Amino acid sequence: MERLEDIIAAHAGREGPLLPILHDVQAAFGHISEEAIRAIASALNLSRAEVHGVVSFYHDFATDADPRPQVKLCRAEACQARGVDALVAALDESVRAQLGTVYCLGLCSAGPSALVGDTVHARLDPTTLSELVEQTK
Ligand code: FES
Repeated sequence: MERLEDIIAAHAGREGPLLPILHDVQAAFGHISEEAIRAIASALNLSRAEVHGVVSFYHDFATDADPRPQVKLCRAEACQARGVDALVAALDESVRAQLGTVYCLGLCSAGPSALVGDTVHARLDPTTLSELVEQTK
């Protein structure tokens, strides 16, 4: 879903639509802009302050665009056993990326695995992951 209006419409009539809408907007645009907050507040008959309060309460949501590539490392058991901690250390030291976590990408036997941007990668080591992040910029 690419458009803000489509995201809002997809949750219309649902009970408690605010959080699902915010999650979808964050996923689609990488942040929740003031324009989006205004449109969501209007659609849900809330004040901008109410929507802004929810956005600022949850760490998952950002109001500013972050240009760094997004890397979600699998921290589930199999990838832990296959050395995901070495990837975390490498990214902390040398790679500018937004780090996140997922719990299993379905490639357990080929871990450690990560989502780099929208693509799943397996059999990662610090070098290959750093190269993938650089290519994503
Ligand atoms: S445990 Fe990492 S992909 Fe399943």
